[in-house]
Amino acid sequence: MQLNPGKLSTKILLMVAVIVLLSNSILCVVSVINTRKGIKKSIRQRMLDIANCASGSVNGDILKTLRAEDAGTEKYKTVYNALAIFRDNVEVKYVYGIRDEGGGRFTFTVDPTVADPATFGEKVVFTEALALAARGTAAVDEVPYSDAWGEFYSAYSPVFDSSGKVAGIIGADFSTSWFEAQLSERTQATVISYLVILLFTLALAAVLSLLSVAPFVRRQEQLVVEVERKAEENERLSLQVAQSLAAAIDAKDAYTKGHSSRVAEYAREIARRYGYQGKDLEKIYMAGLLHDVGKIGVPDGIINKPSGLSEEEFEIIKKHPVMGDHILKNIDSMPELLAGARWHHERFDGGGYPDGLDHEKIPETARIIAVADAYDAMTSNRSYRQAMPQAKIREQIRKGRGTQFDPVFADIMLAMIDEDSKYTMQEMPGQS
Ligand SMILES: [Fe+2]
Repeated sequence: MQLNPGKLSTKILLMVAVIVLLSNSILCVVSVINTRKGIKKSIRQRMLDIANCASGSVNGDILKTLRAEDAGTEKYKTVYNALAIFRDNVEVKYVYGIRDEGGGRFTFTVDPTVADPATFGEKVVFTEALALAARGTAAVDEVPYSDAWGEFYSAYSPVFDSSGKVAGIIGADFSTSWFEAQLSERTQATVISYLVILLFTLALAAVLSLLSVAPFVRRQEQLVVEVERKAEENERLSLQVAQSLAAAIDAKDAYTKGHSSRVAEYAREIARRYGYQGKDLEKIYMAGLLHDVGKIGVPDGIINKPSGLSEEEFEIIKKHPVMGDHILKNIDSMPELLAGARWHHERFDGGGYPDGLDHEKIPETARIIAVADAYDAMTSNRSYRQAMPQAKIREQIRKGRGTQFDPVFADIMLAMIDEDSKYTMQEMPGQS
């Protein structure tokens, strides 16, 4: 069983982070859009304030009577000087007087610009905001326009005469780049403050979810430890039961003490050399331990018979694989046990029993155990013969390669024999 509380808490943290990030991002985008609208409004208000101040400082009665030829006169200077004060405002590019000539035509009047001023009577670019100011309402251009001096957003403010009528208009030009710079500067400030809020919220959400998840994760960790301990206990118990059973099987035959354990060890070594790892090695070991479990059902008298068996007796002995199958068939969590017990007397060429399976039709577990079983049988004293010399055993395995045994596992067994120069891999005196 694989439980990983670490991963679980990371998943929960990630989920919380994604939810916070998404909701905050949506909030940020909506807020920035709204804030930009507000920022634009406030910039335009500032532009209007400047234009209104300028128009308020100009005398409408004088403005409406001024002619180009008045340049240099006292009343011309009054208007000129009033506008010149605003000309020097760092935000305003140009500030000047405008006259409504009627029919949508507007012209410059007094322009205090030092370099390249507009000529008195020169045409002013028409905009909606200018037309609005001509009707008495100060206004700012919604979109920028271009003229000979550049690209601008302009604020227009009407100048009233003593009778309350529009006597002229004061235009204040703000360059597009100034407008954009103002907008992006203030937008950036807003975005940065939202990012700070976002990071803070994320950190807070992480801490809160960690705090709320921690007890749950701790319990999970305890459970994992408990489950692992139980699993180990179960495995140990299973192994002990299998060892006890193996001992019971071997005890029936005075000559085969320790046979099951040795077959289990040889089979595990063959499997290890073949590439098995971890649990698969444990399974093959268990299958080795229990391969002859069916012998429990064979009468002691037949198993321990010192001389040759009758045909009938041999038929009884031959039933032990099927009996083993019956004994182990309910252990469905480890089908290798049944495979080892039922088919370890099958031959690779199909001449074995009980089913006459051949080649890969014989389960791998059984093919491995078959080699290990034959090897141990030959190295042990039996009721009917003595243990065989190592060289003779080696020859028997070699001869059985591809006929009795799967050649792959026979080769591994041969290599094991070749490495065992002192012939230690056999039944030891007194071994049980
Ligand atoms: Fe057997």
